[in-house]
Amino acid sequence: MRKIILVWTWMLGLAASGQTFRQIEPGIYIVTAGQEDAHTPLRYKEPVAKQLREMPAEANPFAKESVHIEVNARGCVVDLPLSADENIYGFGLQMGSFVQNNKKKRPLVNDHPLKDLGYTHAPQPFYISNKGYAVLINTARYTTFYIGTNRKNTDYTPLPDNQKAKFSTDELYRSSAQSGSKPRVQVDIPGAKGVSVLVFAGPDMNSALRRYNLFAGGGSLPALWGLGMKFRLKTDSKQEDAYRIAHYLRDKHIPCDVIGLEPKWQTRAYSCSYVWNNEMFPNPSELISRTRAMGYKLNLWEHAFVHPSSPLHPRLRSKSGSHLVWNGLVPDFADSTAQRIFAAYHDTCFVQKGIAAFKMDECDNSNITRGDLNWSFPELTTFPSGIDGEQMHQLFGLLYQKTLYGVFRKHGMRTCLDVRASGALAAPYPVSVYSDTYDLEDYVRMVCNAGLTGLLWSPEVRESADEEDFFRRVQVAVLSAQTLFNGWYLRYPAWLQFDKQLNNEGQFLSTATKNEDTVRRLLNFRMSLVPYLYAQFARYRMEGTPPFKPLVLNYPTDKAVAEIDNQFLIGDDLLACPIVTKGNERTVYLPEGRWYNFNTNERLEGGRTHTVRFGLDELPLFVREGTILPLSEPVDCLTPQTTFILHCRVYGKQPRNTLLFEDDGVSYAFENGIYNKVSLGWNGRGSLKRTGKLKGIRYRVKSWTQIGKED
Ligand code: GAL
Repeated sequence: MRKIILVWTWMLGLAASGQTFRQIEPGIYIVTAGQEDAHTPLRYKEPVAKQLREMPAEANPFAKESVHIEVNARGCVVDLPLSADENIYGFGLQMGSFVQNNKKKRPLVNDHPLKDLGYTHAPQPFYISNKGYAVLINTARYTTFYIGTNRKNTDYTPLPDNQKAKFSTDELYRSSAQSGSKPRVQVDIPGAKGVSVLVFAGPDMNSALRRYNLFAGGGSLPALWGLGMKFRLKTDSKQEDAYRIAHYLRDKHIPCDVIGLEPKWQTRAYSCSYVWNNEMFPNPSELISRTRAMGYKLNLWEHAFVHPSSPLHPRLRSKSGSHLVWNGLVPDFADSTAQRIFAAYHDTCFVQKGIAAFKMDECDNSNITRGDLNWSFPELTTFPSGIDGEQMHQLFGLLYQKTLYGVFRKHGMRTCLDVRASGALAAPYPVSVYSDTYDLEDYVRMVCNAGLTGLLWSPEVRESADEEDFFRRVQVAVLSAQTLFNGWYLRYPAWLQFDKQLNNEGQFLSTATKNEDTVRRLLNFRMSLVPYLYAQFARYRMEGTPPFKPLVLNYPTDKAVAEIDNQFLIGDDLLACPIVTKGNERTVYLPEGRWYNFNTNERLEGGRTHTVRFGLDELPLFVREGTILPLSEPVDCLTPQTTFILHCRVYGKQPRNTLLFEDDGVSYAFENGIYNKVSLGWNGRGSLKRTGKLKGIRYRVKSWTQIGKED
């Protein structure tokens, strides 16, 4: 018997040797060993963006034979090179860390991803190196990455015996590189009988990431209204509550584009009926038309588990998994018929009736660090399509997004969705990932990690300990992909009363009116930045460069930025440095060049660290010298008719042109060339040049101000 096992293992091992890479797209290489799984991220991805084919075909960064895939009795092991001075980032929306060297990471989907195990709302078997390449392991299995394993290599020399005795558990157990061995990245994929490895060449980090995002289908371009503020109502709100808040926000000129309804708009949740609860919302079509007339879009909360009373239940019965969640069916989204049924229902009942977006909740599996919070389907669940429970968990959020995004796409409508689980190759979905965790420092780090993995992240604002904590959170929300106030357990806007209980009792702070002013001021900043932000999203769509990103992406050779995860770039010209701790002060590292404080216009030298201060009603933001920053006069909401009146700030003596993107903001006509490029220039005086096929005009410049011209 033993002999047979050995022979079998040897045969499997043999299947692994001698693989060679094949170029599948310019600068993207694949190698496969063994029999790959049927259900993988690649299988369900969107088509490649054509802009990828305009990129030069960069050579494979890995030398021949330097990547090994072993298929053995346990599963697959992928073994990749790692150089001593190299930093590894990625693995999806990691929460607890940024640089991943010397860690064991398991990017598994999970709803409460603490403790830096790798668990995340958006797991990706993907990493990117500051040496200018990226790697995707095409698997939906629970996979462990060892980033810097200490193998006993053939040229291994034992450590010199001069180690001092260690007296703390932290010293003893913290992982670290060990001299004497040559570290590798090793990937353990139990259960797989084969796997593909994809390598995205650079030559620099940004190019590697662009290839990854364009391969996924290109970055997302949300509807223009998606860049405004989103306000989610308390779960048990009624139709008149929606009107109350809609009027309140407009009366106070607090910008808002989207109103989100939470579970109780339905007759049943949890699980979901997807049927309007007429006791709470007696007239949904009136709700849609009245709020639309006020410039709002409606977003409906749901999750994918189908309640027995739902009209979808009989239709999905034979197209769902073997286990229930909250007594609801788990649709087999890996089956195109199940996708179609789910999509068609949403189309007829909601999208065609004027619902603009959905929030896709609870698609991220229960807390796997706790045995008592076991609400989701088990890994042993089977599905008619043949996907297993483990793979379904890893792909569920992606497939759910694909299903609902497809409804809007079919109508040529752009949207902006929310989701609690995502994964690899997700860049084309105009969807922000959110979380129930609520640590501001993590939330800022997640902007950095999302930027390196083709994701949009939404650091939402809910309750707060105090004014300081609240407005620091608002500042982060204003400077991120989505500005969201999630009041799902708050009866009144959080700025009127930060404390959850007092808020629900209707006891407002004595500073409520002042807080309204501060919120309005911060949200007006957001609205002023929309033209600049929209241009960054257009770039994401066309070039694959993320709108929000860590410094290392733009300055990979600057050693000082390699570990910075509490600052992030918005485009190439704005640098956000939120304050996440008590007090109004922090240190900020400014990269090469000169930078201007957005609030005071003070100029600071780059290439060094500064101590800076920001008030609660300011933006923690720096502007790169040479930028022409168009700031729009704030508007309450963004409609296809919105014209932005721009006040351009010109920073420094020799500014670069700024490119804005002009289209209808709501359709995919831009894919057929119906858009304009609007170039803002400065040569002693300002100029605006418009080229393209769009007839309309969205930007008009009212003023130009030069800043720092005397220096
Ligand atoms: C969650 C979700 C919250 C809210 C809530 C409603 O757990 O993350 O944002 O939607 O469900 O029940």
